[in-house]
Amino acid sequence: MKNSFPEIPSPETCVNKIFEISGTKFETDIAADLWQKILQHKWLMSEKLGRDVGLRTACIDFLENMDQALKEYMDYKRINILADMGAQRMSGEIWDTISDSQPPKQLVQRRIILPLKEEGLSRKHGVTSPKTIIFFGPPGTGKTHFVKAIAGVLSWWYIEILPSMLMVDGADRIGANLHNIMEKARTLEEAVVFIDEFEEIASSRHAANRVDKSITNELLKQVPLLKSRGNKILFICATNYIRQLDAALLRPGRFDCIIPVGGLDEDGRRTILEQFMSKLNINRAHIDLGLIVKMTARFTPADIEYLFQQVAQFAFDQEFANKQNYQVTTDTFVEMLPKIRPSLTEEIINEFQKDIITYSRT
Ligand SMILES: Nc1ncnc2c1ncn2[C@@H]1O[C@H](COP(=O)(O)OP(=O)(O)OP(=O)(O)O)[C@@H](O)[C@H]1O
Ligand SMILES: [Mg+2]
Repeated sequence: MKNSFPEIPSPETCVNKIFEISGTKFETDIAADLWQKILQHKWLMSEKLGRDVGLRTACIDFLENMDQALKEYMDYKRINILADMGAQRMSGEIWDTISDSQPPKQLVQRRIILPLKEEGLSRKHGVTSPKTIIFFGPPGTGKTHFVKAIAGVLSWWYIEILPSMLMVDGADRIGANLHNIMEKARTLEEAVVFIDEFEEIASSRHAANRVDKSITNELLKQVPLLKSRGNKILFICATNYIRQLDAALLRPGRFDCIIPVGGLDEDGRRTILEQFMSKLNINRAHIDLGLIVKMTARFTPADIEYLFQQVAQFAFDQEFANKQNYQVTTDTFVEMLPKIRPSLTEEIINEFQKDIITYSRT
């Protein structure tokens, strides 16, 4: 069976068609809107039953159960959109892998998570939670990790829009693809929509060509549209290069929050080190965690992950060569650590501090 969507007739014809079937005469604009919904309902009934359901049956069923029918159609559409956009569920435990001392965890908790979880209290005090957010900061500092953690702790869908998804049909179609994706995203409920490497599509228009302009212009239209809806949706973008973003996008009124994601303090590093330790062949009693914490100053989460990959490979190689159980010790770390250069140099930290002053808005 081919279940297709017929053309919408003129508003007057819609009035007559509904009148013929149901005996009720609606105003022209209402009838036109209803007719479209009746066609949607016909389509949904046909999908469910696996056969072509007649217009008369669909119309009567729709008008009798209008609220339920509309809800069912929207739910069905949403499921399709979620599948289309590769929506994923994130574990609530990701949030706990981030130390309370790691900025911007507390800020995110206070400004984003709590107002969404405590809806009654937010209403009482007139708190509106931000819906459009930019995370910026040096590479590997955990921006993507934060976005996944937010989706997990809220139990919302996580939908990542990769610049490559927007580019599939060639450079000329990026703006149009973005438009289509955002149209779909706006209908969702309880979803975190995330664009990573945002600078790749939203760089400054000064030196940009026609294509880049169409993308930033599209974003300038889409961000307010997303905010004007009442649905539970967060639109989050992440970038390493906040300076490259179009100034028009960064102005107040577009993105609600522009949040820096920076380095780890000792507690932040300890929390991440502990998680990775549990994956090694190790006797924790023989590990001087305090020393390793001290030796990993200026390490990003990505650097720590890399350190553990190196340590794990080293342990594997040792055991393979010597055919003897190799247990990782503090000495293993002390030996490996000088071979890994921390990503956060003084220069990067200084530049980041300047960006915080210039761009952050929380
Ligand atoms: N608190 C954490 N606990 C455990 N792993 C973490 C934590 N934060 C980040 N990571 C891991 O560190 C790596 C780098 O983090 P992430 O990819 O989120 O950084 P990023 O800022 O998005 O980097 P990029 O700028 O390259 O996109 C990832 O593999 C991530 O899973
Ligand atoms: Mg990232």
